[in-house]
Amino acid sequence: MKEPTLEYARKLDKGDSLSRFREEFYLKPATIYMDGNSLGLLSKRAERTLLESLLDWKEHGIDGWTKGKHPWFDLSNRLAGLLAPLVGASAEEAIVSGSTTVNLHQLVATFYKPQGKRTKILADELNFPTDIYALKSQLRIHGYDPEEHLIRVKSRDGRVIEEEDIIEAMTDEVALVVLPTVQYRSGQILDMKRLTEEAHKRGILIGFDGCHSVGVIPHAFSEWKVDFAYWCNYKYLNGGPGSVGGLYVNRAHFGANPGLAGWFGSRKDKQFDLEHTFTAAETAGAYQIGTPHVLSMAPLLGSLEIFEEAGIENIRKKSLEINQYFMELIEVELADFGFEIGNPRDNARRGGHVCLEHPEAIRICKSLKENGIIPDFRAPNVIRLAPIALYTSYEDVWNVVRILKEIMVEKQYEKFANEREVVA
Ligand SMILES: Cc1ncc(COP(=O)(O)O)c(C=O)c1O
Repeated sequence: MKEPTLEYARKLDKGDSLSRFREEFYLKPATIYMDGNSLGLLSKRAERTLLESLLDWKEHGIDGWTKGKHPWFDLSNRLAGLLAPLVGASAEEAIVSGSTTVNLHQLVATFYKPQGKRTKILADELNFPTDIYALKSQLRIHGYDPEEHLIRVKSRDGRVIEEEDIIEAMTDEVALVVLPTVQYRSGQILDMKRLTEEAHKRGILIGFDGCHSVGVIPHAFSEWKVDFAYWCNYKYLNGGPGSVGGLYVNRAHFGANPGLAGWFGSRKDKQFDLEHTFTAAETAGAYQIGTPHVLSMAPLLGSLEIFEEAGIENIRKKSLEINQYFMELIEVELADFGFEIGNPRDNARRGGHVCLEHPEAIRICKSLKENGIIPDFRAPNVIRLAPIALYTSYEDVWNVVRILKEIMVEKQYEKFANEREVVA
């Protein structure tokens, strides 16, 4: 931290090579949006492609499947081509389809093959609940008791999971490992390359939930030989609320029969033969199930254009720098107010958000909102704040810290109830 001044923040903005993208987003006046790691903001391009898709429907009716500006029949594949570079996959190894949870069900239904004593699924105790619910229900479908067959690696400090502990838990009873790329609370990046190598050495398949990394850090899923991955497109990728998700399957697994088959997983040229014998696509497209949710995919077309132009390496670079600036400013300005930074500090181990811990986190979040700053709260004590490379300025970050300091000095948070909202 050179200087904790507004002038210095403005100087950093002048040197920001991504600053031109800010005007492409709908930023609310007098509001600083720090929650793009939960739901990204609408861009003008995403709005345009959504409206164009509506127009395709208006003008072409059913023919919109093959006509119009963005024909629907191969839209999932077209989007996969745009998304693939962000996850380090070939276009055939990715598909835009389903939702995070549905895709996890699909991939576990496909790749969890208990045999002999290899019956267990390895996860971790900090993962997002939906992943754990899905894994437990998949175990139940196979007739196994999740209490015994789902192993959750423990965290030593409640924030991060040590790779050593995961590797140690990869015993010969484990059939499948499912982990996050980035922990949703602390923002810890797991070493996907190393974990994949270690799993494979032991004959175990491994998949990752990429919700908190896709669109903010580069990946090399294919090169690392990760077996599968799945993620949402509504966080860093700004695809909109309920945006259709994405999945990746390594080409080594092409031809694996989808656990949950449906006609949109067919080879495209066979789908409308309408035979009762399923001919699966020879790509990750095989793991689609039913008719794609076209209007929930359309914004991604515009949004991914922006990522192509900005470049994921540049996005990661700014994200690291602006988060670093943020953390240093917090340390300088908020040293006396009982905050702790819960995310790892090492660049290789931190994702796209700052995990700010405080015993009064709920009330401080409410106070931030009252002051026009949008954070999110994660129980029990985490304020997540994400400066987003494409639309957050250094001046925004400077203002967030200034306002946070005012809230603490004036104890503004004390007027709020210590209860979380229904949607936190
Ligand atoms: C790590 C992680 N996985 C999954 C989800 C949600 O899954 P879905 O997109 O199916 O609602 C979230 C939502 O915040 C998440 O953080």
